[in-house]
Order: sequence, then structure tokens, then C-alpha cells
Amino acid sequence: MSTRPVGTRKVLVTGGGSGMGLAVAEALLRAGGRVAVTGRRVERLEAVVRAWPGQAVALPCDLASPSERSGLLARARDALGGLDGLVHSAGVVEHQLPGHISEEALRAQLEINLVAPLRLGEEALSILEDGGGMVFIASTLALRPLPTSAVYSAAKAGLLAAMRSLALTGAARRIRANAVCPGVVDTEMIRAPRLAPGEPLPQGEELERRISAQLSTLGALHPLGRLGKPEEVADAVVHLLAAPWTTGSELVIDGGILLRE
Ligand SMILES: NC(=O)c1ccc[n+]([C@@H]2O[C@H](COP(=O)([O-])OP(=O)(O)OC[C@H]3O[C@@H](n4cnc5c(N)ncnc54)[C@H](OP(=O)(O)O)[C@@H]3O)[C@@H](O)[C@H]2O)c1
Repeated sequence: MSTRPVGTRKVLVTGGGSGMGLAVAEALLRAGGRVAVTGRRVERLEAVVRAWPGQAVALPCDLASPSERSGLLARARDALGGLDGLVHSAGVVEHQLPGHISEEALRAQLEINLVAPLRLGEEALSILEDGGGMVFIASTLALRPLPTSAVYSAAKAGLLAAMRSLALTGAARRIRANAVCPGVVDTEMIRAPRLAPGEPLPQGEELERRISAQLSTLGALHPLGRLGKPEEVADAVVHLLAAPWTTGSELVIDGGILLRE
């Protein structure tokens, strides 16, 4: 029997092939946990399995598909020989001003950022071991939206509400549900250039210049003067997975950005 805290021993991490999900998976694996990573890009998942043979397993899945995501926690439990943790890091963002919100972007953001984690959380209530933990990666944009984040902010705010409801239901078996709300973290997600409506995607050096300027601008928005690192959010996620008397909470990790008007 592992001496690691319950919640961190056998964990399913969505979005585990990149960014904050990968950082969470690696933190758990370094500490001796077993982890199932899921996402669509199979090569990313297999790289984790190659780096952690015997400890990590890959469960490719498109979370936008109800039939693919249904039973995902049971598959993770079977692959790992039990399951005491769920981390939902998978997410998508598309910045669009009201009046320019496409139906496709609206549906995709609601499905991955709200519907899928709610469904996974429901399944977790019956699959996780007693005392297990789930942590959802929300966003400071759930608490303070931008003009371009109506759908993303609504989905992440809905996720926080769903998390609190799951926490109430899970408490009977000491299953805890919590969330983190990161500020801007340096991952692939924020390296997509933010374009004005109808603006063509720049190419070559101009694209590089735009992305670098975007990262500097975003970093400077934080009172602590820089972007967050995936590992900094992962530390907080691992803490919440293990915290036995914390449930229904949202931990802001944002370099102070919410302190600004
Ligand atoms: N970066 C930030 O500044 C920031 C700030 C606050 C909150 N967040 C949130 O943090 C979480 C992690 O994002 P990140 O910054 O680490 O970016 P990321 O590296 O782009 O991670 C997003 C992950 O979501 C997975 N994903 C997307 N669509 C999916 C689908 N249909 N099915 C299965 N997996 C899917 C991706 O895997 P595949 O492409 O392989 O499917 C990817 O691993 C997200 O929920 C995001 O909203 C990010």
C-alpha cells in the first residue's frame, strides 16, 4: 500500500499531454504515483508513457465526444488497478467579441470546459475510492471576464458551480472536489495569436514577433511581473488532490492579476 496521500496515488489527468496537465502528471509521477493521461494527440500521451514506464498509461480520448468520454474513469481505474484522483486540465479558448461569436466556438468551449468535466465529475463520484480527490482547472476569467471571453468565462464559471455541487455530493464518501483559477500561464494555449475579427493569420517572422509581443503584454498585466509557470499551478493542484479537509474551494494562483482594476 502506497504511503502517498489518498487522492494522489492513482490519478486520471485530462489534457495530460501538454501544459498544466502534463506538469500535474509529472509531479504525481515524480512522487511515485500512477497516472493515466488522456487527450487527442496520441504521440503526446505516448511520450509520457515512454518517460515513465510502468507508472503512466495513455488513454486517448476526444472529450467532445459523449460516447468516447463515457466510461473514461472506469477505463482509468481498470488500467491503474484503482483510482483515487481526477484532474481535469483539458480546455479550449477562443477569444471573440460579442457579435462575432461563432456557433462552433461557442459549442466547443461549452463542451470541453463545462459539459465534459461535469460528466467526468459525475462518473468520479461512483468510481473514485473513498476519500479521493478531484481538481478542475478553471481560470481567473471565470471571476473577471474580458470583452472577448464571454463563452470561456461562462463555461469556467459554470465549472466552478458544478465543482461545488460535486463537492456536496462527494462528501458522503469523503470525496473532495476543488478548483484552481490560474492567471495567464505560459503554455501552448496562450501562444495562439489573438487576431482582430477578420484579420488574417500573420506568417513567418511577423507571427513570431506578434506572439513574443503578446507574451510580454500578458506577463506585464500581473503585479508579480511575469506569466505563471505550469509547475506552479501543478503544485497547487497536487496540494488540493491530497488536502483531506478542503472541498468546494477555488484557489486563485494568478501573480496578483485579480488585484488590478
Ligand atoms: N494557459 C493559461 O493562461 C490558462 C489560464 C487559466 C486557465 N487555463 C486552463 O488550463 C487548462 C490547461 O490549459 P493549458 O494552458 O495547459 O493549455 P494546453 O497545453 O493547450 O492544454 C490544453 C489540453 O486540453 C486538451 N484538449 C483540448 N481539447 C480536447 C478534446 N476535445 N479532447 C481531449 N482533450 C482536449 C489538449 O490535448 P489534445 O490537443 O491532445 O486533445 C491539451 O492537452 C485549460 O483548461 C485552460 O482553459 C489556462
